[in-house]
Amino acid sequence: MLNDVEEILLSAEDIENRIKELAEKISSDYKGKELVLISVLKGSMFFTADLIRHISIPVILDFIAISSYGEATETSGVARIIKDLEENIENRHILIVEDIVDTGLTLGYLMRTLKLKNPASIKVCTLLDKPVRRILEVPIDYKGFEIEDKFVVGYGLDFLGKYRHMHFICTLKPDIIGIEGRTA
Ligand code: IMP
Repeated sequence: MLNDVEEILLSAEDIENRIKELAEKISSDYKGKELVLISVLKGSMFFTADLIRHISIPVILDFIAISSYGEATETSGVARIIKDLEENIENRHILIVEDIVDTGLTLGYLMRTLKLKNPASIKVCTLLDKPVRRILEVPIDYKGFEIEDKFVVGYGLDFLGKYRHMHFICTLKPDIIGIEGRTA
């Protein structure tokens, strides 16, 4: 697996340090409120697990899973919920936790869908942001890192279901990503 790595962009330590800062900011912004964290499966699983453990205010955790149809490294923009929330989010403060915002289409769909349930507020926290690729402008309230237009894996992010369990975030060698992948 390590042989497939082209370049490590963010080390486990970089990620951990940034997550502590994000958690501190979130804890202070939501002081006195009950926060509902909505983790978007599967990519944000490690991010959510680490973030929530550094949050110092009461917090409820729920999960949602979206499937988007598209190539291995591209989003088609067509999405549907494949695992819905268990919590009732009406009149509650929700924070969507995403792994990466790329075109913004997935997050846009998710926000439109969740707003229909009338939450008290809705904000977004993403570990990674690839702003160059944006098709739909989406508000990002908490951002871990801005990255270039590169396809990345690790720390929850996958390529064809693999590489999620790596502790760092990296690019893969071009022969692994293949012709459907993008490296620039
Ligand atoms: P968007 O709809 O284009 O913003 O894409 C969002 C989803 O595409 C993310 O939640 C990821 O699952 C996936 N994705 C986008 N870029 C990458 C990447 O560089 N590596 C792995 N998955 C990605």
